[in-house]
Amino acid sequence: MEERQPAPGGATEQRKTEHIRICLEEAVNGVGITTGLERYRFLHQALPELDFREIDLATEWLGKRIRTPFLISSMTGGSSIAAPINRRLAAVAEARGWAMGVGSVRAAVENPGLSGTFRIRDIAPTVPIYSNIGAVQLNMGMGIEECRRAVELVEADGLILHLNALQEVFQPEGDVNFAGLLRRIEELCRQLDVPVGIKEVGWGIAGDTARQLADAGAAFIDAAGAGGTSWSQVEKLRSADPIRRRAAEAFAGWGIPTAESVRLIRAALPHQPLIASGGLRTGADAAKALALGADLAGFGRSLLAAAADSEEAVDEVLAQVELELRIAMFGIGAGRIRDLRATNRLMPN
Ligand SMILES: Cc1cc2nc3c(=O)[nH]c(=O)nc-3n(C[C@H](O)[C@H](O)[C@H](O)COP(=O)(O)O)c2cc1C
Repeated sequence: MEERQPAPGGATEQRKTEHIRICLEEAVNGVGITTGLERYRFLHQALPELDFREIDLATEWLGKRIRTPFLISSMTGGSSIAAPINRRLAAVAEARGWAMGVGSVRAAVENPGLSGTFRIRDIAPTVPIYSNIGAVQLNMGMGIEECRRAVELVEADGLILHLNALQEVFQPEGDVNFAGLLRRIEELCRQLDVPVGIKEVGWGIAGDTARQLADAGAAFIDAAGAGGTSWSQVEKLRSADPIRRRAAEAFAGWGIPTAESVRLIRAALPHQPLIASGGLRTGADAAKALALGADLAGFGRSLLAAAADSEEAVDEVLAQVELELRIAMFGIGAGRIRDLRATNRLMPN
């Protein structure tokens, strides 16, 4: 997640490490809010008229064929504990055909010594990889050159900007000046020669906002909705300030649930490349998100424990998610992702 000025003596690294530790060990899910995916079910198809073994997860993303409709959401980099996490995720992403985002590379743009913790292209040569910075950094002195550098140092296919306004408020000395950002995003989209995607970090994106972002030139949008990781909960646990901690608690249920965000964005922008993420845990969740209109399904914290463990553990989780998606597709008689996305068998509970 976005960091303050890289402080001497490893303070930046420490914050990155704290984010990972808190997300692994503490209760950081939103409270009193869910993804909303549980409010939908598929109308089971007793006669799928398909050979299960021929179900095909391949799909199109930004004009390219990819082997699965999955993304590993932007998480980390910039600390010694982050480096092996990124490399385990990347190795399995390449083996299985998942796209992958890395966490904010701002610290590495400012301090090239940290670039190695984001280096994954050598082991993930073919899958889409996205670099990442906080959109608010465009108001804090990061310009086109820094963004180009952010793409280069990851050898990325594109840059994802994250919108994390509330998280910045809950961070001590967060960057809270989001004024005039849309125009800067527009300039960046015009000048950068790779696609710029825009995501939230767990509070979702509404239809009107998505339309503004698409008009500004966003190549894709990632809902990153509520119901999973809550960054007010994470920052609450990092904060020493009792007022901020209590205020963060008041926002534990904030945000647009993932299912609703996907639905709103898709209604506003019928053809915009769209990622559904935020609180996804299973391939059955992903199936619903795709049937609601997303092109890809993104998984964040639900992969973190495995990534902190081993490549084998990551492979197991990703294999399970893929199997669950295939089973959901079999269960409604959808042989290809295109059929799943066009299904009329998803209904409100
Ligand atoms: C440890 C951790 C670090 C994260 N760092 C970033 C980041 O640097 N940039 C970003 O765009 N999102 C970041 N995120 C947010 C995720 O990409 C995702 O949007 C959010 O966690 C919601 O998805 P989830 O419920 O599947 O975790 C981070 C998430 C985690 C768990």
